[in-house]
Amino acid sequence: MALGSSCLGIGPAQAGDARKYPGKAVPRVHPQDWPRLQPPLPADPDLERRLDVLLAHMTPEQKVGQLIQADIGSVTPADVRQLGLGSVLNGGNSSPRDDKLAAPGEWLALADRFYAASVGGDAVLPVLWGTDAVHGHNNIPGATIFPHNIGLGATRDPELIRRIGEITALEVRVTGLDWAFSPTVAVARDARWGRTYESYSENPALVREYAAAMVTGLQGMPGTQQFLDAAHVLATPKHFLGDGGTRGKDQGDNRSTETALRDLDAAGYIGALGAGAQTVMASYSSWRGVKMHGNRALLTDVLKGRFGFDGLVIGDWNGHAQLPGCTAVSCAAAVNAGLDMLMAPDDWRELHANTLAQVRSGAIPMSRLDDAVRRVLRVKLRAGLDREVRPSSRPFAGQFELLGAPAHRAVARQAVRESLVLLKNRAHLLPLSPHSRVLVTGDGADSIAKQSGGWTINWQGTEPNQAFPHAETIYAGIARCVTAAHGAAELSANGEFHTRPDVAIVVFGENPYAEYEGDVPTLEYSPADKRDLALLRRLHSLDVPVVAVFLSGRPLWVNAELNAADSFVAAWLPGPEGGGIADVLFRAPNGTVPYDFRGKLPMSWPRSPKPPAVDDVAGEQPLFPFGYGLTYADDGYLATLPETLARASARLTRH
Ligand code: GLC
Repeated sequence: MALGSSCLGIGPAQAGDARKYPGKAVPRVHPQDWPRLQPPLPADPDLERRLDVLLAHMTPEQKVGQLIQADIGSVTPADVRQLGLGSVLNGGNSSPRDDKLAAPGEWLALADRFYAASVGGDAVLPVLWGTDAVHGHNNIPGATIFPHNIGLGATRDPELIRRIGEITALEVRVTGLDWAFSPTVAVARDARWGRTYESYSENPALVREYAAAMVTGLQGMPGTQQFLDAAHVLATPKHFLGDGGTRGKDQGDNRSTETALRDLDAAGYIGALGAGAQTVMASYSSWRGVKMHGNRALLTDVLKGRFGFDGLVIGDWNGHAQLPGCTAVSCAAAVNAGLDMLMAPDDWRELHANTLAQVRSGAIPMSRLDDAVRRVLRVKLRAGLDREVRPSSRPFAGQFELLGAPAHRAVARQAVRESLVLLKNRAHLLPLSPHSRVLVTGDGADSIAKQSGGWTINWQGTEPNQAFPHAETIYAGIARCVTAAHGAAELSANGEFHTRPDVAIVVFGENPYAEYEGDVPTLEYSPADKRDLALLRRLHSLDVPVVAVFLSGRPLWVNAELNAADSFVAAWLPGPEGGGIADVLFRAPNGTVPYDFRGKLPMSWPRSPKPPAVDDVAGEQPLFPFGYGLTYADDGYLATLPETLARASARLTRH
């Protein structure tokens, strides 16, 4: 569909936004040119009548309370009762008693206390508890943790994605929570972005398919008994809209055309909403200079109008405070633009008072307040919160043996295997014989944190190995595999050895990060520290065959590392099931190949450290294109690559 020109005009629908951005033309949106979606849930007149009754009996104070979500690090159950808050969350660094290693039972007990504070008396409906279960129930030590989304994007296995969602939902329920702030459905186009690993792919069709699969796994299939039952949780496609197109800057400005915004960035929402997603999280990022938290045209006219979304839109962590004229404690603009719930981790009390005042003054029309509250309560009723008993009395609650259950971990290990992408395999070095002497080295060889990345136990993913009771490092997986075949595996911190190994496996890559902490100015891997490259080169110079296992949240420029290795595996952020790597690298003791590589690149691999061209649809040729990935049958020869930035760029210009 050809969109109207995405001129920076002010249409009638957007006139209100212009008042918020004086002197700045609000970019025009043409909702009529966006797909019209049919929500998968049929109209439910009984439900709507119940909402009418609930709303009719609510005071403005109660209504405003339902619009506010507070963080468990700053709010108590008594506060929830006093203000009638609609929801709580645990941010990436929040946990019961601020103890990252708190036992699952403590989470469940706290969920009971928040539930008890939100029922009885004049309470409206129980509180929802949201958590960033973005690669498993990743705040809980012992829970099953899966590869991050970029690795899942390499698997080309949507059924696996659905299964991962299903397991994640069940483990979230075990601890008494009912809302997962996932999946991220960004279409990442510039790997300098610190959240690239939370994206499934640069390819919108793949993101759309995976968004639907993950939402179905988390929530259950609409129209079936499983939909939002006791084994499922609310899903949250995020961050609406265009977070993956900000030219590598987290919370930055997406300058794409409206056509690209529709056809690239919105693809995941079309999949997620089609699968019945009940909540959507707004993005910190902007579109053409307008912060998404204040973009009424996209939040309301497109998402709620054209897409027909009748669930709730939640803001990101104080995302409303970034709007012109707003603060963390006061932001009528975000509510009027279409936010139905404000994530107010610490300032919920003052925000409640100010929002109530804005309703009373008319700064927030009562009709907008009622629509927002209706959406929040609609989601709660669909989630069965009116029928629920306290969290610890619900099915699966307290069945802590389900956390990291062997069957769940087996799925995580399968995901690790299927996520691996083989980029080079000189002289068919891989698969390796397990009857070998194997040297394992590199600072990623024995580090669960390094193989798991951010959003793991804590926000930035920096916990020591002890925080992961079931985990297996990549070295441990190799050692177990080789020892079982009477081979030998030696872990060496610096690559030195006493007895010459038959092969060296060097596990190296990015240190954990999350969000803007991971933004980088160049695609060159580790520009300021070349010790990994030196290690590869030293082993290569000793004529030891070298297998590189690269841990990263994104494709990076690693020409020199590729040259120094005989085989090179892109392992992404596989998570605690490090044994999945050995499953693929080694033959079985009888010489057969139990698992071949099947991973295909979810994102183009850069030929140079230069960032991709804008929307790079006609940009430079990548070193390895989207969809690239060798198997053992392929000739894994790779010609020597240019290693200096100048030559790499020069080669680039010749194309
Ligand atoms: C963060 C992230 C968002 C997350 C939220 C709650 O800033 O942007 O993805 O769900 O805060 O932790």
